[in-house]
Amino acid sequence: MQTIRVATPSARYEVFAGSGLLSTLAPRIRRAAGKLPRRVFVLTSPEIWALWGKTFLTSFNEPPIVLFQRAGERYKNMASVEKLLRQMIAAGGDRGSLLIVLGGGIVGDVGGFVAAIFMRGIPFVQVPTTFLAQVDSSVGGKTGVNLPEGKNLVGSFHQPLAVFADIAPLGTLPDRELRAGLMESVKAGIIRDRALVRFMEERASEILGRDPKALEKVIAASIRMKAGVVSRDERESGLRMILNFGHTVGHAIESTTRYKLLLHGEAVGWGMIAALFLARERGTISSLQFERLERLVHLYGPLPPLRLRTAKLVAATGADKKNMGGVRRFVLPVGIGDAGVVEDVTPAELDAAVNYMLACAREPRA
Ligand SMILES: NC(=O)c1ccc[n+]([C@@H]2O[C@H](COP(=O)([O-])OP(=O)(O)OC[C@H]3O[C@@H](n4cnc5c(N)ncnc54)[C@H](O)[C@@H]3O)[C@@H](O)[C@H]2O)c1
Repeated sequence: MQTIRVATPSARYEVFAGSGLLSTLAPRIRRAAGKLPRRVFVLTSPEIWALWGKTFLTSFNEPPIVLFQRAGERYKNMASVEKLLRQMIAAGGDRGSLLIVLGGGIVGDVGGFVAAIFMRGIPFVQVPTTFLAQVDSSVGGKTGVNLPEGKNLVGSFHQPLAVFADIAPLGTLPDRELRAGLMESVKAGIIRDRALVRFMEERASEILGRDPKALEKVIAASIRMKAGVVSRDERESGLRMILNFGHTVGHAIESTTRYKLLLHGEAVGWGMIAALFLARERGTISSLQFERLERLVHLYGPLPPLRLRTAKLVAATGADKKNMGGVRRFVLPVGIGDAGVVEDVTPAELDAAVNYMLACAREPRA
């Protein structure tokens, strides 16, 4: 098992990654919290509870009160939040209560937001069950829900008390979800960790074959990267922006396809291809590095085919909420293992990058 420390101005906590965490949670949470409060809630989805509820309960003398949040982007909304807050009140929740969140990024984002606003904020623990949630959404304290007007438009920064990323639940994760989540690790390697890039190149068959040791290594390295960045920039005023590598075009693909066609990681995968192209054109990576990194993205594919018009996608990049003041912000790799933010991408450069990506996406590699 590996332990990673996160230290932001608002909180200090530990992220644990390894095997056997889910069945030994109670004493671990007690250690992180000081003691277990009178009211402990667990928020999960019916599917995850059916698969992993029994293992979760193993270490609790007194079972927590179970609350359900349906997985699915359309349930990540204010109505779900209000319902959960009222259920917690009805079950006697108070300012001393603790919320454990067991699930993927949807359950995690909703649960974190509920914890952020219930009685003006209660402690919560993340127990992420998807690869994406383990390496990305459970760490860093971003919580929130969607509005009909767009994704993640309401939320709060609320850091967890601890994060327990257990390898075991990944055993039931659909292959497509695993591969999409791994795109965030590819991203982590490209922007911050050369050794992770090499490991993911050399050990792809073990990683995709879900070898626990190989997964633990990738998960821990990805978390370490994110923890390092959010510890230095909790509220995304500078360095944290590099985590958006692949996201400018990725978000545009998601919104253009109304979040129906691709998983988030897959959209980021295509977005990284566009950003790599741009980086090669600008000379921040060499042609050889471009080929190597493009190959790495496809190694963790297949990325689903896309049939979109360049103009439509380019227009959608301007609508991204991270593009403050109309500036098209791009994160570009600088060599392998480093990255920087550029704000002066010209329309012609963006067109060329999106064109290249869409040409690849029309007939993606197997
Ligand atoms: N807060 C952040 O910093 C942050 C970062 C990245 C993404 N996100 C958010 O995360 C969400 C996506 O999260 P996600 O990719 O985990 O999706 P998800 O929560 O929808 O889970 C994906 C699917 O996997 C299933 N599942 C979860 N764990 C499983 C398991 N162990 N075995 C079998 N099935 C399992 C779920 O039921 C669901 O059908 C998005 O809403 C995104 O906005 C947040």
